[in-house]
Amino acid sequence: MANLWVKKPLQQLLAQASSEGGLKRTLGAFNLVALGIGAIIGAGLFVRTAAAASEAAGPAVTLSFVVAAVGCAFAGLCYAEFAAMIPIAGSAYTYAYATMGEFVAWIIGWALVLEYALGAVTVSIAWSEYLNKLLGGAIPYEWCHSPMEMNADGVHGILNLPAIVILLLLSMLLIKGTEESASVNAVIVFIKVAIVLIFIAVGFQFINGANHTPYMIPEGTAGHEEWNKWGYGGILGGAAIVFFAFIGFDAVSTAAQEAKNPAKDMPIGILGSLAVCTILYVLFAHVLTGVANWTEFKTAGKEASVAFAISNHMPGYDWLATAVTVAILAGFSSVILVMLLGQSRVFYSMSKDGLIPPVFSELHPKFRTPYKSNWILFAFSGILAAFLPGSMAGDLTSFGTLLAFVLVSLGVWLMRRSDPDQPRPFRTPLVPLVPILGAIICFAMIIALDKYTLMTALAWMAFGLIVYFGYSQKNSKLQ
Ligand code: ALA
Repeated sequence: MANLWVKKPLQQLLAQASSEGGLKRTLGAFNLVALGIGAIIGAGLFVRTAAAASEAAGPAVTLSFVVAAVGCAFAGLCYAEFAAMIPIAGSAYTYAYATMGEFVAWIIGWALVLEYALGAVTVSIAWSEYLNKLLGGAIPYEWCHSPMEMNADGVHGILNLPAIVILLLLSMLLIKGTEESASVNAVIVFIKVAIVLIFIAVGFQFINGANHTPYMIPEGTAGHEEWNKWGYGGILGGAAIVFFAFIGFDAVSTAAQEAKNPAKDMPIGILGSLAVCTILYVLFAHVLTGVANWTEFKTAGKEASVAFAISNHMPGYDWLATAVTVAILAGFSSVILVMLLGQSRVFYSMSKDGLIPPVFSELHPKFRTPYKSNWILFAFSGILAAFLPGSMAGDLTSFGTLLAFVLVSLGVWLMRRSDPDQPRPFRTPLVPLVPILGAIICFAMIIALDKYTLMTALAWMAFGLIVYFGYSQKNSKLQ
């Protein structure tokens, strides 16, 4: 009789980790904060901020960032407990398999496909927008948009070619096994933060108070047919959209094994990178919605919004628009790479556990990378990037990540009760308050997502159940 709750023994996981050669403990709190920021700043800030302002929150998108950050902070503290308890480089899928059993692990693994694969898709679509901006709009509309999109002249998209190209290039890089060295990461972090700071400093002088009045769009303004648009509901609706900008901070928790002093450095790394990003995001959003009016982000400024705001409202700063665009293209590439890598790692673990077919863990004879998995992932993400609008891909990413956060948060609380004696180098403070608040805030953001996103996401999860009962449970190595 198959058992839904079978757990992968912790001893087996730890043995696996030590046989793979222990990672060196070299990262201090400062490195962890830098790692987090490198993985975090991307399309969420440079694309989704404007979308959240024009679709749900207006200038109060700054408050949306605060709500999303609070949810992430609570969930992040829960992630850290698991990461330190099961100190192998891994993800929520691995933690769940050891602690909450196969079925929950499957659900998280399936949701993580939304986080990583759809995350890469979202950022590749954003990359395409900024590339076209850099080229002065030279790519015909049809060839850089989804068929679900239409411009003001009634031209429909056919497929998003640049998004496919960037996914292809980065997939090939991954197959060759190029390791993103720490120094490359440091340079990209530096460029990204510099661009954000320059935009804030220069843009501050161009804020037009009229754009911030009213700061919170009153309920009843056109488009308020749904509860998660405008007013307080809009702040939550906006939080669900800009939540995307925080995705990746969980990367810090996966580095637990390399932290010098996990008990002290992990919370500093997680909360520190969240705090730095939140401050930058709030200032950035305040300036962006002050320089351009939030209503412009529905129309002319819908794409490449930051470059749009600079070129149209900051006279004399055209050079900055170009510099920002180039920096954004570089920054997006590193985020896509991290997402594709994360997805192939999750597929690799799931395949080793027998939950998905062995082809996902076959290694290239020379490069020692899961190349077949990378090609399948490219096909899957390439098709989605070609045909989905960026907003839909972004919201699906938020759904998958938020679902994983809810389950991880609840998991910490349940584990404290079921296995109180398991050594925990880092303990989430104030259990069960922190896990419960983390789960509630993240769940609230889930239900504040757009209803079509929710229906699509639920269909994806239902499909996951069919795969689990049809294939995975029968082929699970543990069963
Ligand atoms: N947080 C990452 C971004 O905004 C995923 O691109």
